[in-house]
Amino acid sequence: KNKGYIFDLDGVIVDTARFHFLAWKRTADELEFVLTPELNEKLKGVSRVDSLNKILDWAGKSVSEEEFDRLAVEKNEYYLSFVEQMTSADILPGVYQYIKLLKEIGYPVALGSASKNAPMILKKVGLYDMFDAIVDGNSVTKAKPDPEVFLIAAKKIGIEDTACVVFEDSEAGIDAANAANMTSVGLGDTGVLGNADYVFADFLEIKDNLF
Ligand code: G6P
Ligand code: MG
Repeated sequence: KNKGYIFDLDGVIVDTARFHFLAWKRTADELEFVLTPELNEKLKGVSRVDSLNKILDWAGKSVSEEEFDRLAVEKNEYYLSFVEQMTSADILPGVYQYIKLLKEIGYPVALGSASKNAPMILKKVGLYDMFDAIVDGNSVTKAKPDPEVFLIAAKKIGIEDTACVVFEDSEAGIDAANAANMTSVGLGDTGVLGNADYVFADFLEIKDNLF
């Protein structure tokens, strides 16, 4: 079929965006910096290293390479302690049904995430086998808003860029999808996702809309 669907993971398929926030908030606390939900929007879709660089920048702190690595490892350990308890019950409303619909029609489905934990989380919630291609933080060099992650995903599923639909909950991700000339669908708040072609609260609202 001539259409492809690319999903971000955190905040689109599973509600892990709040776990990333809680974990970064604790790191920020250690740096005596208050990470607000508003500033956290700027971390969504952004890699672990880039996120820590942003927080250090906002906090006006510079740390040794060693301390940087320690903070990044610690953040991930804290994040993983939340993720550990996840099951298929943590898949966001309507997502499973929507992916099932795409598979039934025969459309290829790909993951386009900045997270190095993405494959593990997909396995944990039982969705791993539904994806025809997985592009994650282990295989990209340029972070969103660079379109690289989505362009690689489109190539992997053999679908033209302009025939791909991207689902994203982050500003950076929507900008990346737009830069890739794909249809961008925002999940969340219109205020944050104003650049998206469409914005929905969740997949229950998207229902069987194929874009
Ligand atoms: C996603 C999330 C970010 C996270 C990034 C890296 O894009 O939206 O909040 O920082 O992945 O995740 P990782 O699991 O590799 O630390
Ligand atoms: Mg996301």
